[in-house]
Amino acid sequence: MIKEEMVNRVALAVSDTVLNVANLTGGYSIIINSNFAYVDAVNDVNFYAKNDEVLGIAGESGCGKSTLLKILYGYTKPPLIVKKGNVILKINEQTIDILTLKDRTSIWWRYISYIPQNSMNVLNPIQRIREHFIETIRTHIDVDIDEAYKMAREYVESVGLSKEILNAYPHQLSGGMRQRVVITLALMLKPRVVLADEPTTAVDVVVQRGVLQMLLDKQRELRNTLILVTHDMGVQAMVTNRILIMYAGKGVELGATNDIFEDPLHPYTKALIESLPRIGDKTLRRGLAGQPPDLINPPPGCRFHPRCSYAMDICRREEPPIIKIGKERFVSCWLYVKR
Ligand SMILES: Nc1ncnc2c1ncn2[C@@H]1O[C@H](COP(=O)(O)OP(=O)(O)OP(=O)(O)O)[C@@H](O)[C@H]1O
Ligand SMILES: [Mg+2]
Repeated sequence: MIKEEMVNRVALAVSDTVLNVANLTGGYSIIINSNFAYVDAVNDVNFYAKNDEVLGIAGESGCGKSTLLKILYGYTKPPLIVKKGNVILKINEQTIDILTLKDRTSIWWRYISYIPQNSMNVLNPIQRIREHFIETIRTHIDVDIDEAYKMAREYVESVGLSKEILNAYPHQLSGGMRQRVVITLALMLKPRVVLADEPTTAVDVVVQRGVLQMLLDKQRELRNTLILVTHDMGVQAMVTNRILIMYAGKGVELGATNDIFEDPLHPYTKALIESLPRIGDKTLRRGLAGQPPDLINPPPGCRFHPRCSYAMDICRREEPPIIKIGKERFVSCWLYVKR
């Protein structure tokens, strides 16, 4: 029975996908007290992203969201290593495995772009903003500096920013404006997939709204795919079409946002939603007790079992399979395995 219910992980994808991620496993090879250790940050993660959607990735701090995004982008340099898996990007009838691609810079910006966590600090402090734009344009489009500068001016104005910012150095702009510049750069070449890692966390609430709106407006205009990492379940509820919930390096639930909020399946997803404040409800929200595990030495079986009030014997011993529950709904939990 278990076998029938288990999903063939490589074939998890549905049609109309732009990104298929299968068995993805990677982490950090580090040295602690002169001994080698491995941080098992992303372990056998499977999901897909469709054309023209906003896919959210949620989970507590340290559960591997940023590591996953770095691997998806192919931004893997030591100590980050990929152990196995595929990240298949489908562009113009072509399929590209990002992890085996020799020259990843050929797809960066143009087909897939990445807005890193704390990205307001990624701009080169000794380069004016215009040089960032000119360099990005000229890496992918065969134009001279004057033409690239003209394109940058037109583009910056088209997204509602003043072209004066092109003459500024990063430190002369506010954090929110630097964040907008990074996002504008990432979207300039109309990539099919945009990976945004906590794009609103480091800015104040008013700026957050503008930054998020800018990302969403562009997604609607380009009809591309925005993969939005945020631990903020309120933002997830408002802007995403589907959500991947991560816990301790594992993908534990995947489904349509409405389904996930109306009927969360995984006990961890239930806890995340339970901790959200609700208008008019004055009772203290129940938080989730305990801490996520140390990923150098994660617990055996289901990684959530030490914090799970439904934990059974098997949860302590064996990893749960991925179970398909209805159309496009997946959960990795022994509670849903018929035995
Ligand atoms: N450069 C690094 N070297 C070693 N371990 C790392 C490194 N970066 C992250 N880690 C570890 O990898 C695990 C996953 O971290 P990651 O940053 O991917 O989590 P996250 O979900 O993005 O967290 P947050 O919400 O705080 O941004 C954590 O245990 C973290 O300590
Ligand atoms: Mg992170």
